[in-house]
Formats: sequence, structure tokens, C-alpha cells
Amino acid sequence: MLKKLLIGSFSLLSVHFNFAQETQKQLDHIIKEWAAPNEFPDHVILSATADPSHSIGVNWRTHASNTVGYIEIAVAGPGPDFRDDIETYQAMRTNVNSTLASRGGFESSFFEVQLDELKPNTLYAYRVGNDYFKSEWHQFSTSSDKSTPLSFLYVGDAQNYILELWSRVIRNAYKRAPDADFFIHAGDLINSAHDESEWNEWFAAGGFIHSEIPAIAVPGNHEYLGLNSDKPKYNRKLSVQWNAQFGFPKNGPPELHKTCYYVDYPNLRVIALNSNRKIELQAQWLKKVLKKNDKKWTVVTFHHPIFSASKDRNNIQQRKHWKPLFDKYNVDLALQGHDHSYARGAVFEKPVFLEKELQNKTVVGPVYVISVSGGKMYSVSESAWDKFGAKLEKIGERKQLFQHISIDGDHLIYQSFTATGEQFDRFELLKKNGKNLYID
Ligand SMILES: [Fe+2]
Repeated sequence: MLKKLLIGSFSLLSVHFNFAQETQKQLDHIIKEWAAPNEFPDHVILSATADPSHSIGVNWRTHASNTVGYIEIAVAGPGPDFRDDIETYQAMRTNVNSTLASRGGFESSFFEVQLDELKPNTLYAYRVGNDYFKSEWHQFSTSSDKSTPLSFLYVGDAQNYILELWSRVIRNAYKRAPDADFFIHAGDLINSAHDESEWNEWFAAGGFIHSEIPAIAVPGNHEYLGLNSDKPKYNRKLSVQWNAQFGFPKNGPPELHKTCYYVDYPNLRVIALNSNRKIELQAQWLKKVLKKNDKKWTVVTFHHPIFSASKDRNNIQQRKHWKPLFDKYNVDLALQGHDHSYARGAVFEKPVFLEKELQNKTVVGPVYVISVSGGKMYSVSESAWDKFGAKLEKIGERKQLFQHISIDGDHLIYQSFTATGEQFDRFELLKKNGKNLYID
């Protein structure tokens, strides 16, 4: 009797197991079909270039058998007649095969056009594709070439539950600042470096926002995995899609192509660093880029934080080689990710007290921010700040956040918002005699 019961249970378990396996297979197949490239251009994204007043990078994807792509562009007009004055530019094609590196991989064509000689502060319309299949007309504005006010958005790790949960963050960010000049992604955009279905989630969540606000992105540790999906932790390489799908500047060290670079607005230099590789080499490059910098404001972005917000995390090399340069050359903001929580603080000059009230605080080096936008959350550990002389001003846990930063002359306003649109954090910086007065 017992034997009969056990055999019965085992068969039931095996039926369940087979059913689960079969269901998983079907699910994987459906997800793969959903993420597959096809005739129509998708993953259309704008990238900031070194000179966003006059140029922009445009990238997109199709299936691999499509070998030709081009962009059509015109100054946008109120009606359809802007199409009478179109210019066409051929795209560079890169064939990317992610089938070995990712179980759900594909062979895809990625196309890239770098548009130069654009007019500053001008609204353009563009579409991408070939003679048969084209995208809709997207619009973007080049930046002003004057020191006018600008603003930008910044998010930490999207990484997990990208379409499920990150979508509401990027969409709320766009609602808050539809005219933002650019959008910073501080690493770990996805979880498995070469997985095209995760990239497809990232593009589906952002939709036309990616095609209309230029991105500035750096890779996180999750953008590095082995090229053999059976040994993902062996010999990690940058996401095979990265260089093909982004058009970032090539003004960094050649071995860190499109992952370490800088972008110049009239009153702001944004420096993107790759915190995964060659930290010392980047320090030498960073020194030159900071030394020859005539911009009023300087923002750096990278993935692994200088002061960690998580227990047992300590990015010694970045702190040793980069922080002294941030301090020496008065970098204003360091926008980071990696710790899946929120922490914001700085090193301050000795506080000044007047009538027992703290009247002002002067910041030494940048205000450091760690933020998270996707669905994976860790607790905050505060210890990593005090022991290095930094003061934490604000922490947050289990909140999906985006940040909006505005710069106008000597004044910077930083705001952080939750996925539901409430303000979560805020401070201001005021430039006085080359130093930053901190106002909260
Ligand atoms: Fe990370």
C-alpha cells in the first residue's frame, strides 16, 4: 500500500516537474520571440556626443539579414511639410551575434549614425530604417551653444524587474522633465550583460524616451559577463550589444571605447567613467580632462560608489585614484549606483556657526549620490561614510527613484523623486569664489 502511494506521489511529482519544464520552455520561447529583432527598426536611441550643441549619435537594431540602414533628418516643422527638406545619411552596420553568450541570443544588425554640423538649440525630426521599413518620425533638440539653463535626469541601477517596475520610473522622470537635455544611466542597466531580452525590456520600458532624450550611460558590473553562457563568470567581457547600440563619444582611453568619455555643454562637463576596469589608467586620463576644463560645472558618473551605502562593499581603488582628483579640480556632483539603496552626502569644510546657528556649509569636492531605479533593494549601511570623513545627509531604502538636476548660472538645484512622483530629496549648490556653498 505504502509503495503504491509512494509510486503515485512520485509520478505526480514527475508530472508536475515535466509540466513545469514544459511551461518554462514555452515561456522562454515566447520571451525570445518577443525580444527578437525583425524588419522594423527598434531599440532606437540617441546618445550624447562630445559636442551636443552640434552633433548627436543615433543607433537602432534590426534582424541580421538587413545590411543597409540610413537616417533621414530635417528641421522639425508644425505640419508634415518639414519632410520636403530631408537629408539622408548612411549608417554604419555592426553584426552582433549573442547566441553563444546568452541562451536567448540572436544575430542582429545594429546601425549607428553620428550626425555632425547640426544647428544649436534647434528642434529636429528624424526617422531610421531602409527603403521598405522605417521608424516613426522622432524629435529631439540640440543643446544651446550659449550658457543658458539646462537640466538633466539621472537614475541608478534599472537592472531587475526592468519592464515590470523600472518602466514607471523612467516614464515618471520624463513626465517631470520632458525637456531634459540628457539622461544619465549610472550602470547596471540590465542584469545579464549579453541578454537581448533584458535589453529589449530596457528599450520597451523607455520607449520613445530613449529616442528623444540623449543618453549618457556607463557600464556596471552586470554589463560584464563571460562570452560563453555555460561559463558566465569566466573571463567577463563588456555586453556584446554595448558598443553597437550606443553612440557615445570616443574621446576616452581607446581600450575603454564608449565606456569612458566626456560630454561638453556650454556651462557643464559630464565625465563618464568605467568603474569596472583600468582605474589607474582612467585616473591619468581624468587628470588631463579635469585640468583642461573651462566649464563652470563638472559632473562625474560611474557605477561603483566612492563611499558605499552597503555593508561589506568598499571600492578602494576608485576612492584612492579618483577622489583626490575630484577634490583637487572641484568636481560638483558624483552620480553613482550599485548599492540598490539611496545615500547622499559630501565632505564639508569646517562648519561655520553664527549665533549658534549653522549658517553655511562649503563642500570639499563633489556631493556624492547613490541611487536605484529598478526593483532590487538592499539595506543601507552608513559606516562607510564617517570613517572617510564624509557626512551622510540623506538615506533611503526600498524606494525606486529618479533625479532631476537643473543648472542656471551659479546655481544648481538637485531633486530626487520616487516612482510615484513625490519629492524624496533636495539640495542646492551655489558657486562662490570657485567653491560650492551647500544649501538644504
Ligand atoms: Fe552593480
